[in-house]
Amino acid sequence: MAKATIRIPPKGIPHDELLRRLRDLAGHDADWKGHRLFSLVYHHSDAHTDFLKAAHGLFFGSNALNPMAFKSLKRLEAEVVRMTAGLFHGGDDVVGTMTSGGTESILLAVLAYREHARRHKPWILRPEIVVPASAHAAFYKAGQYFDVRIVRAPLAADFRADVDAIRRRMSWQTIAIVGSAPCYPYGVIDPIRELGELAARKGVGFHVDACVGGYLLPFVERLGASERLGDIPPFDFRVPGVTSMSADVHKYGYAAKGASTILYRGMDYLRHQFSVETEWCGGVYASPTLAGTRPGGAIAAAWASLNALGDDGYLANAGALMATARTYREGIRAIPGLEVLGTPLLSLMAFGSVKGGVNIYAVGDFLEARGWHVDRVQNPAGLHLILNPGHAAVAERYLSDLREAVEYVRVHPEASAEGSAPMYGMIAKLPLRGLVKKNVLAFLEKMYRADPDATVLTDGSGNDDSTAGGVEAGDDVPPILRTMLRAWARVTHRG
Ligand SMILES: Cc1ncc(COP(=O)(O)O)c(C=O)c1O
Repeated sequence: MAKATIRIPPKGIPHDELLRRLRDLAGHDADWKGHRLFSLVYHHSDAHTDFLKAAHGLFFGSNALNPMAFKSLKRLEAEVVRMTAGLFHGGDDVVGTMTSGGTESILLAVLAYREHARRHKPWILRPEIVVPASAHAAFYKAGQYFDVRIVRAPLAADFRADVDAIRRRMSWQTIAIVGSAPCYPYGVIDPIRELGELAARKGVGFHVDACVGGYLLPFVERLGASERLGDIPPFDFRVPGVTSMSADVHKYGYAAKGASTILYRGMDYLRHQFSVETEWCGGVYASPTLAGTRPGGAIAAAWASLNALGDDGYLANAGALMATARTYREGIRAIPGLEVLGTPLLSLMAFGSVKGGVNIYAVGDFLEARGWHVDRVQNPAGLHLILNPGHAAVAERYLSDLREAVEYVRVHPEASAEGSAPMYGMIAKLPLRGLVKKNVLAFLEKMYRADPDATVLTDGSGNDDSTAGGVEAGDDVPPILRTMLRAWARVTHRG
């Protein structure tokens, strides 16, 4: 049936009514306030959020595109960058900018390394960046946007970057290598010191992606040995080979969404992310990051968050989070058949059943039926957790549901063939990655076509209700592809 075309209403709708509609729509989103979600949202406390909204509101209409007009924002950005450089033991040579998020920071780093190589190594024809397999997907996006070849190196048995594997994949066209502190999929910290030595020896750049851990790791490092989950190896500008770092204030910095930092050891890198157009009819146009207009609210809220929580606030938060992480990690390890993948030292981790013989995706289905929002990883199959302060209160409940889920799947092997478990298993193992990509791309096209209902995905859990406006991967898609396409919604983007 043809859908009514959506237009701007001929007459404005009263604010109350619009806010009611917005609340109604938000009510169908994942229940992060009830701590049932383990990704995408980083929440410190309601009081902190209310304060951030006030700070954000003060700069709601401000635009950091023109720092002459908004000197305030330039000042706030510079202070966020200086505070972050200090956190990472960077001296005055460390310079950088704020960006809209981790992906933009990584895009800019890749662009800067490409431009830097064009300037200093003009013989490189097709620049390459070697990344461990656990590096964030944003590096591939950057490769796609900027025509840089991203070379993937396999991980060591402990899921950390394998320095030797990275070294073997480097070539005369390598412009940089990457390590994560920590990586998203397993929450483990790559051997930054060893990677730094390699980068320095080979004379290439070295980016440390601390997007998720950047505002947590420096505080965890300072906790007492009994509070930490293990020793924290050096991960920042103390390592001589590190030439750039990204860290997201909108993650464990507990700022408003839209705030990250990209830092370089030296203006000789930073200058390569800048863009200046002198011939444009609109005047000379200079911009420091990918965006043109740069929302002032996000910058102000990031500055406000760092100052409001302060060193003592972040330290206290790190201590509390590590206690919660220990509860989850040990709770998971105590469940027969489950193992935590690698040795995560922060509050994000993945667990699977590589040796235990339980279908972990079926375990995920069971948890979802209990109302948990489950994130899945692949190679090996696992479930993923990013913990926030609120997850302390639900730890017992989560772990008891998890234990029950594992027992259920063990005595009901058929569960592995039901629900979404088989499709996740299939997606992870499907040898034809090109086919998966083609169909996920087709799904994106479908989702962004001119039909507002198509912008809302069903989550495949069977919990969807019609008011959520869920779209099924349509009848025109063969069933096997349909299951794959639906799975895209859960397997891919994580925040
Ligand atoms: C290690 C790492 N790098 C980069 C990103 C991308 O950040 P964003 O989603 O803010 O673009 C993430 C997101 O979780 C991450 O964990």
